[in-house]
Order: sequence, then C-alpha cells, then structure tokens
Amino acid sequence: MARDDLGKTTLVSDDDTPSPGPGEALLRVDRVGMTANNVTYAVLGEAMRYWQFFPSPIGAEWGLPPLWGFADVVASRAPGVLEGQRFYGYLPPSSHLIVRGGRVDDTGFHDVSPHRADLPSPYNSYRITTGDPAYRHDQEDLLILLRPLFFTSFMLADYLIDNAFFGASSLVVSSASSKTAYGAALSLYGRGPQLIGLTSAGNAGFTRSLGCYDTVLPYSDLESLPPSPVVYLDLSGSPDLRRALRDRLGASLVRDIAVGLTGQTSNIDTADELFFAPVQMSKRRREWGRDELDRRFAAAWRGFAGEVSGWLHVSVGSGPAGLVDAWSDVRAGRVPPSVGRVVKL
Ligand SMILES: NC(=O)c1ccc[n+]([C@@H]2O[C@H](COP(=O)([O-])OP(=O)(O)OC[C@H]3O[C@@H](n4cnc5c(N)ncnc54)[C@H](OP(=O)(O)O)[C@@H]3O)[C@@H](O)[C@H]2O)c1
Repeated sequence: MARDDLGKTTLVSDDDTPSPGPGEALLRVDRVGMTANNVTYAVLGEAMRYWQFFPSPIGAEWGLPPLWGFADVVASRAPGVLEGQRFYGYLPPSSHLIVRGGRVDDTGFHDVSPHRADLPSPYNSYRITTGDPAYRHDQEDLLILLRPLFFTSFMLADYLIDNAFFGASSLVVSSASSKTAYGAALSLYGRGPQLIGLTSAGNAGFTRSLGCYDTVLPYSDLESLPPSPVVYLDLSGSPDLRRALRDRLGASLVRDIAVGLTGQTSNIDTADELFFAPVQMSKRRREWGRDELDRRFAAAWRGFAGEVSGWLHVSVGSGPAGLVDAWSDVRAGRVPPSVGRVVKL
C-alpha cells in the first residue's frame, strides 16, 4: 500500500521465486491474519519503524505492513533451520520471505538480517510449532489472529497488577469491543478494580455479551462514569474522547495509558505514557526467566483460547486478492468485532 495513503493498494507479481543465500532460508507464507492492530502498524509505520521489517521491492513510497501468521521453510542454507519446518511469526503480505537464521534453538530462530537488527527483538523471533507450549494444530487461526493481541493483553494486565493499578478503583477501557481489550478485561475481571468498557453504540450489545466488563457504556455516555480514581486504557486513540474524559474526570484520572489507536489517529504524545508490551515482557523475562514467562503465558493463553473460540467467527479469504479485500475491510472498520479475518496464501 502507499505509505501516505493506506487505502491505496497494489499487487505485484514476480515469476522468480527468490533463492536463499548462505545463512538464509526461504519461507513460504501460508496463512496470515488481519485486525485493527495491523492497521496501527501501518499508521505508525514511520514513527515506530514498522515499514523497516519488510522493505518494499517497488520503492520506498510503498509499505508492506507486518502481519502475524504461519510460514513453512521451503529451502534453507541456514544452519539449524530445516526444510519442512513450520514457524509462527511476523510476515509480510507476500508469498515468500527470505530470513537470515540466527539464535537457533529448540523454540525457533531469530531473523538476524541487517535491516532488522535494531528493531524490537520479539518481532524478529520465529517460533517453531514443535517447540511452542501454546501451539495446537487445531487452533492455528486463533494463534494467527489473537496471539500477539493476547500477549499485549496479558502483559498489560500484568503491568497494572505489578503497579497495584496505580491506586485506581476503576479501569476505563476504550474500543472495549476489540480483541486486545477483551483479552485484557478477561485477565483483569474480578482482580479488584471495576472494569468499564467504552465502545461505539453499535458494538455495545456485543461488548456486554462478552461478560468481562462490569459496565459497558457508549462513547456518548461519559456522564455515568464514577468519580473514583480511574486508570484509562486507551485503545481507540481518539483525541476527542481523551479530552472529554479529562474534562469529566479531572484529578480522578490518575493514569492515562495509550495502548492503541483503532481510530487511526496517533495521539500517543498526549497520553501520560505509551504501553509497549515488549518493555514489560523484558522486565518479566529478567525477573521470571524466559521459561517461566512462556509457561505463564501458555497457561493464560489456553484459558483465553477456550473462551474466545466460543464466539469468534473466523472468516478465511484466499490469495493476493483476499489480502487486499481483508485489508480494505479491516481498515474501513467493516469487520464486526465477533469476526476475525484470515487469509490463506
Ligand atoms: N501497544 C501494544 O503493544 C499493542 C499491541 C496489540 C494491539 N494494540 C492496539 O490495540 C488496538 C486494538 O487492536 P485489535 O487488533 O485488538 O482490534 P480489533 O479486534 O480488530 O478491533 C476492532 C475494534 O476497533 C474499533 N474500530 C475498528 N475499526 C475502526 C475504525 N475504522 N474506526 C474507528 N474504530 C474502529 C471498533 O471498536 P469500538 O467500537 O469498541 O471502538 C472495533 O470493534 C489497535 O490499535 C492495536 O494496535 C497495541
């Protein structure tokens, strides 16, 4: 898509499949997902360097937004990365990806290509299906759509618990119908503070049906918010909503945390802080160790996957046209919150 116009997309075909050089492997992208999170990657493509993961072959004015999914190794000259292995990780909206295998162990490898070297490490990690406690073959679509979101939900809930909720008795969550908000609310429900979900009027019924918010309010009904100490978890990124909440809550708003921007306007500069899951992850890796963090995440993931599989409808498209279709629907907000879009390439 055009970096300066995310609604403008193009498909590029190339009959020559790339060949891996020494130390490299060729991945065939098999299945990827698309949610509002991928649109955020594109909105923040320059600011957070998301465009840098997969440089466009047709010029820097075009961007390849990162997607999450599964890919198979179809050729390899990277020691320890073997043909036939299947990996979960960050993938471009393309048929193939060349990676440089490094830090190989029984959980997977990192792409150590020079252009990715100074980008956040979790995004360079490829998890092998056989060495991943969260993997289940029959849940691949759930992993594709929800694993990175739930990872944020899980780390966000942990961050709040780690900080004793900053003294708040209520947590107010915007874009409460989003999958990331749902995962966080599910992890926090009944842990102390009251959970209040804010959402569009049309998504209020669905959000209530999730059963993980004490109260669900449409964006127009901020008058009903309690005057108690509040932490705001902002997934909408709406500047108007932030302003209205500050007016309504005044000093009761004890913390204002930017988590997302489903409305596609970056207002992270005006929040108290930007939540970036890899930061809390690094802290817990130091404190708990990688294996313990993996174990806790896998246990939480299993509970979450059980809940979400009860209501999530996975809609599967195919091929390059399916990618374009899913992108334009997700970007325009045409995907109901109960649906997850997956594309089989
Ligand atoms: N900080 C991090 O590390 C991190 C990690 C993961 C995700 N996130 C962020 O969390 C947010 C939610 O991501 P998700 O993938 O969970 O979302 P999702 O499930 O695809 O969310 C869809 C919801 O977003 C709102 N929405 C969707 N399209 C919209 C549009 N065009 N205009 C306005 N609102 C729209 C609607 O919610 P309402 O009607 O309820 O507003 C909709 O139900 C994203 O901004 C994402 O980047 C941040």
